[in-house]
Amino acid sequence: MKLLVTGGAGFIGSNFVHHVVEHTDHRVTVLDKLTYAGNRASLAGLPEDRVAFVRGDIADAAVVDSLVADADAVVHYAAESHNDNSLHDPRPFLDTNIIGTYTLLEAVRRHGVRFHHISTDEVYGDLELDDPERFTESTPYNPSSPYSSTKAGSDLLVRAWVRSFGVQATISNCSNNYGPYQHVEKFIPRQITNVIRGIRPKLYGAGLNVRDWIHADDHSSAVLTILEKGRIGETYLIGADGEKDNKTVVELILTLMGQDPDAYEHVTDRAGHDLRYAIDSSKLREELGWMPKYGDFEAGLRATIDWYREHEDWWAPSKDGVEAFYAEKGQ
Ligand code: NAD
Ligand code: DAU
Repeated sequence: MKLLVTGGAGFIGSNFVHHVVEHTDHRVTVLDKLTYAGNRASLAGLPEDRVAFVRGDIADAAVVDSLVADADAVVHYAAESHNDNSLHDPRPFLDTNIIGTYTLLEAVRRHGVRFHHISTDEVYGDLELDDPERFTESTPYNPSSPYSSTKAGSDLLVRAWVRSFGVQATISNCSNNYGPYQHVEKFIPRQITNVIRGIRPKLYGAGLNVRDWIHADDHSSAVLTILEKGRIGETYLIGADGEKDNKTVVELILTLMGQDPDAYEHVTDRAGHDLRYAIDSSKLREELGWMPKYGDFEAGLRATIDWYREHEDWWAPSKDGVEAFYAEKGQ
């Protein structure tokens, strides 16, 4: 197959492109605007006869049309993805997450091309710490932030294009990813690179918020499974039973990096901060036979720490700017 991967120079998109090259015979064209979050170096070393790169905007209908016409399937990762940025300036989130997704849907509709939409568990809002239920495909949408509300909007567009126009699409909503190539604005790489730089890790509020961690490579294998075996029009939740509160994760990072586990700071909390996410991925596992491979979070985190230690050239150019942005907000 010829896959068009939007956002393939970002964190999860680049992990997916590496995964596809390693595990399939598919050819890939990456369409990426190279915003602050995109990095061509994340695709370095991949064979040129398997992976092509186009710099462009998913909201640019002319660019999108010709690339979609040439693809067998589109895997749509491109997004503005960071909650804190969406609280500072929501506009790019509307342009990319809503208009960009609309532009892609119109192109796949014109050309009859298979579409897989990458979304997030955040569309479901948050859970109480002691809620026995986890998110399922039938949990009502209840997003909290400008980021998650635009992702929810993009999911609803996909559903409408399936029902109204017969577009051949599937949707997946995944929990928090970790692994190589994640931007230093995000929680885990921010704290790892802080420790490397001799800065104390920063925990929002009391640090009791829970995230359900999955390795990015497991996210990639789940997306490939849905692309190959998923039923058109269906939504699949992706998760690896990895619930941990933020305080536990920071303490583990410090311990694995040879520091005192208490050597972090509490900083100003995020406005509207979602308390807990938790995914029930039974449908994906039982219907399509998918299973995560990275069951051991501590081992995955240790490998991720090693990757950031060995790739300072990849993250260093962004680090000072990110920390200056957070410092202005008391974070
Ligand atoms: P990221 O911010 O690391 O990467 C986003 C990529 O999209 C970047 O390469 C950027 O240059 C590109 N991009 C942004 N706007 C664009 C535009 N208008 N046109 C073309 N390219 C554009 O994001 P990520 O963390 O890799 O997330 C990828 C997708 O996965 C997003 O849709 C996100 O909602 C979803 N998701 C992320 C997580 C997570 O834990 N990070 C979890 C579940 C779902
Ligand atoms: O659940 C999936 C979502 O996971 C994706 O849709 C988003 O694209 C992705 O960014 C992520 O969203 P979060 O807001 O959960 O991730 P973030 O890495 O920003 O923060 C994780 C948790 O850590 C959250 O509770 C906020 C907290 N945090 C974050 C930062 C950057 C801190 O305590 N300190 C920090 O410095």
